[in-house]
Amino acid sequence: MKLLVTGGAGYIGAVVTQQLQRKGHCVEVLDNLSTGHADVQLPGAVWHEGDISDAGQVLDPSFDGVVHLAAKSLVGESVEHPERYWHGNIVSSLRLIDAMRDAGVPRMVFSSTAAVCGEPGVDKITEDVPPCPTNPYGASKLAIDHMLTAEAQAHGLAAVSLRYFNVAGASGALRERHDPETHLIPNLLRVALGESSEAKIFGTDYPTRDGTAIRDYIHVVDLADAHVRALHTAASGQHAVYNLGTGTGTSVREILDTVREVTGCNIPVVEAPRRAGDPAVLVASGDRAALELGWFPERDIRQMVSDAWTALQRFS
Ligand SMILES: NC(=O)c1ccc[n+]([C@@H]2O[C@H](COP(=O)([O-])OP(=O)(O)OC[C@H]3O[C@@H](n4cnc5c(N)ncnc54)[C@H](O)[C@@H]3O)[C@@H](O)[C@H]2O)c1
Repeated sequence: MKLLVTGGAGYIGAVVTQQLQRKGHCVEVLDNLSTGHADVQLPGAVWHEGDISDAGQVLDPSFDGVVHLAAKSLVGESVEHPERYWHGNIVSSLRLIDAMRDAGVPRMVFSSTAAVCGEPGVDKITEDVPPCPTNPYGASKLAIDHMLTAEAQAHGLAAVSLRYFNVAGASGALRERHDPETHLIPNLLRVALGESSEAKIFGTDYPTRDGTAIRDYIHVVDLADAHVRALHTAASGQHAVYNLGTGTGTSVREILDTVREVTGCNIPVVEAPRRAGDPAVLVASGDRAALELGWFPERDIRQMVSDAWTALQRFS
């Protein structure tokens, strides 16, 4: 297929681009480099530096689909400046969908997020749990989900939303480089590398097995594989939603232990109060993705940490 990957200069978008190329797809990337990195440009991918609002200048009827990862995705920023999320995520995505319709591009795979679920308070989140975002970031992603449902029904788009939970790991040199970095594993690894002196653990009084928050981690290469599969199962006139989860949670302290083991470093940590809006447990059922996409994540926490550590040491 000929595909446009939006956000292909970002952490996940670069790995998705790589996996699509490895499967023989022809990939073009559209990225405004607002949080991405120009140095991840992969050989063979055509590069367009620009905003998704201007996707009309790139898309034409030769494209078979769009993998839409470009977004603003900082929860805290979205609370302080919600307007940035309405414009940057909702309005821009609407213009992208308009451009797809104008050019007759038939399918979209969209990066959704656990943040649309809010704090559902169930053991395993299935796709049937009603979404209830607790911040503008999650609300902006849910609004795009609603657009895709309506676009599929009204105009026959083949749409798939993949709900990511916690993404980790690296693919060779392609690693997490967010600024600010809010994710646990890269922040712990920075301490191991000596780039910071300590890491913070937010909340040690949760009603969990060791008092720290529990999340569902997926290796970025396994996550990218789900996109390749979703492009093939997307059906005209339908909007499918899949949780990309393992059904198993790992606590912050368990991640810390793994990072200490993999790096051989004692990572000093400071215990801080819970962050507002951080639920105790967020674990997703991946049953629907297994059944309908044939998607089974293969890489465990140790491999996520070890791949991220190798990439950080070799390529930072
Ligand atoms: N990293 C995670 O754990 C996680 C979890 C859930 C969902 N997601 C979603 O996955 C997607 C990718 O996340 P990431 O961690 O790779 O983030 P990232 O910031 O590394 O990548 C996002 C990319 O999109 C580009 N971009 C942003 N707005 C744009 C616009 N308007 N026009 C063109 N390009 C634009 C940025 O320059 C960047 O290259 C996002 O949609 C995010 O909401 C990520």
